[in-house]
Amino acid sequence: DWRMEDYIDATVAEIRERVGDEHVLLGLSGGVDSSVAAALIHKAIGDQLTCVFVDHGMMRKDEREQVEQTFRDRFGIHLVAVDASELFLGRLHEVEDPERKRKIIGRTFIEVFESESAKLPAPKFLAQGTLYPDVIESAVAVGPAQTIKSHHNVGGLPEKMNMELLEPLRELFKDEVRRVGRLLDLPEVMVERHPFPGPGLAVRILGAIDRESIRILQEADAIFIEHLHTKGLYNDVSQAFAVLLPVRSVGIMGDGRTYEQVCALRAVSTNDFMTADWTRLPYDFLAEVSSRIVNEVKGINRVVFDVTSKPPGTIEWE
Ligand code: XMP
Repeated sequence: DWRMEDYIDATVAEIRERVGDEHVLLGLSGGVDSSVAAALIHKAIGDQLTCVFVDHGMMRKDEREQVEQTFRDRFGIHLVAVDASELFLGRLHEVEDPERKRKIIGRTFIEVFESESAKLPAPKFLAQGTLYPDVIESAVAVGPAQTIKSHHNVGGLPEKMNMELLEPLRELFKDEVRRVGRLLDLPEVMVERHPFPGPGLAVRILGAIDRESIRILQEADAIFIEHLHTKGLYNDVSQAFAVLLPVRSVGIMGDGRTYEQVCALRAVSTNDFMTADWTRLPYDFLAEVSSRIVNEVKGINRVVFDVTSKPPGTIEWE
């Protein structure tokens, strides 16, 4: 992959030149873009880079641990991983409205990120994993689909933080970013990862959120994703996840009656996430995932599969 190797060499040189002996701060989300940006900048300037990962408590199962293992233990990157789940969950207590959830999470995220950054040697640069399509999108008027949900992303960070932006991926498309990530030895699971919304599981637990519903959804989602990997289907799907519905239904387990929550599985195929079709996952695959979830996840006794395309549906349920 010579073209991407050249890109890496040229960009590393550029970053060194521009940064000099200043410090760089990067908000790491665990997603492909910020992860590749972190690995690339670290290759250029090593310890002058600090990554801040804010765990709002609504990440996928074991996500913070995976980020710590990859970036701190394997790459030796200076990583500040903050467990801010108490603060986030406290503010989200009994909040049911999707837009209010997003606003609370977005605001709290910036607050935590800023207060963590203030403890570090004053960085001159704020690094972001902005890609070429993001650059285009913010330059051109966005369609109605964009304004339906307010988007919170790590990319949308603080103008007021008074740092220069460092965006080493802004000439690349997603597939090129993945190739760069592979050349930089990021784990394949990280490089191929589906997108994950900034507010995380908060918009996949319909209605109010608490620690128990997060645990239930994390377990169900992890089974679905693991099974997609096992059956070699993960890369055939653009985005897949489980949703926890605020609805209970009756079931039977052994010789007892159960009355537990319903879990919906969502899998979509799309190029741009503006429109999407639901993925025709094999029935046998769905049967296996369903029986694993009902048997292994305490709190769920029924699994349904979402067969709605976008539009009229959206990809997320909130
Ligand atoms: P929708 O649900 O609008 O989702 O069809 C389109 C894509 O955007 C992601 N998404 C978000 N990403 N913050 C994000 O960073 C958000 O608040 C948010 N809401 C939706 C969604 O996962 C899908 O990839």
